[in-house]
Amino acid sequence: MPSPAAANSPIGVFDSGIGGLGVLAALRRELPQEQFVYIGDAGHAPYGERDTAHVLKRSQRLADYLCTSHQVKALVLACNTATAAAVASLRERYPKLPIVGIEPALKPAAAKSTSGVVAVMATRSTLASDKFQTLLVAQPPSVRFVLQACDGLAAAIERADLQAIESLSQRYVQALRHNPGGGAHIDTVVLGCTHYALITDTLGNLWGPQVQLLEAGQPVARRTRQVLEAADLLQAVSKGTAHAPVSSLTRCFSTGDPALLDQALQDWLVGGPSLRASALFLP
Ligand code: DGL
Repeated sequence: MPSPAAANSPIGVFDSGIGGLGVLAALRRELPQEQFVYIGDAGHAPYGERDTAHVLKRSQRLADYLCTSHQVKALVLACNTATAAAVASLRERYPKLPIVGIEPALKPAAAKSTSGVVAVMATRSTLASDKFQTLLVAQPPSVRFVLQACDGLAAAIERADLQAIESLSQRYVQALRHNPGGGAHIDTVVLGCTHYALITDTLGNLWGPQVQLLEAGQPVARRTRQVLEAADLLQAVSKGTAHAPVSSLTRCFSTGDPALLDQALQDWLVGGPSLRASALFLP
């Protein structure tokens, strides 16, 4: 049995920057009584165009900080690139800590596609990872996956550069549509980077209404609930065994410019203007 203090501890969530805020929003909807500590590692981003060793080292650094300074009871990797590079090693490093990762939603996309052609937009590092390749070969052979590394897009979203977001999105959607491997028949698009889930309006306009976009924030939130339930680590109110609702407390930190995370919190997180980001020095 975990001690009550453990169940009252916060859940740690991290991404290379603001991308994980979509996951955090889903977590807060799924688990409104839980406390969260979010870190955007913007001072060491983008992850998707760095080598695996860098992403692994940063993920360990963030996990260590969340465990030692915030005593988190669970860890959510709200970053596909970090999950691919580091989830296995973090599970070895913290064998008792429930750890939930995020990966591109290939399986749901294969099930939803009627044309049998699915696009995957992700970082270069995610697409090159062993974890992604293993996931890809496990999909039904009747479905074709067309892959696109979207260099620069996460960084443009991070700095809220609307012009760059628009032009890079156009470039990558065009490249996918003209892909000789069936690009013209794409009817489902997997957003395999949490940053891209923040620009579904832009991407949705470019793809058009016939194409469905899939991201994994909500499934990750549901999985987090299951994992906490299994470990008996949900707050009593989350379990429904207490009546007084506790308002969810979220603390946000950025290793880069906290003003960018602040702006993103206002734009994307249903959390009200009271949520402010603090600077975190974590070399
Ligand atoms: N948001 C991250 C992901 O889901 C990557 C962004 C980056 O390249 O830093 O993969």
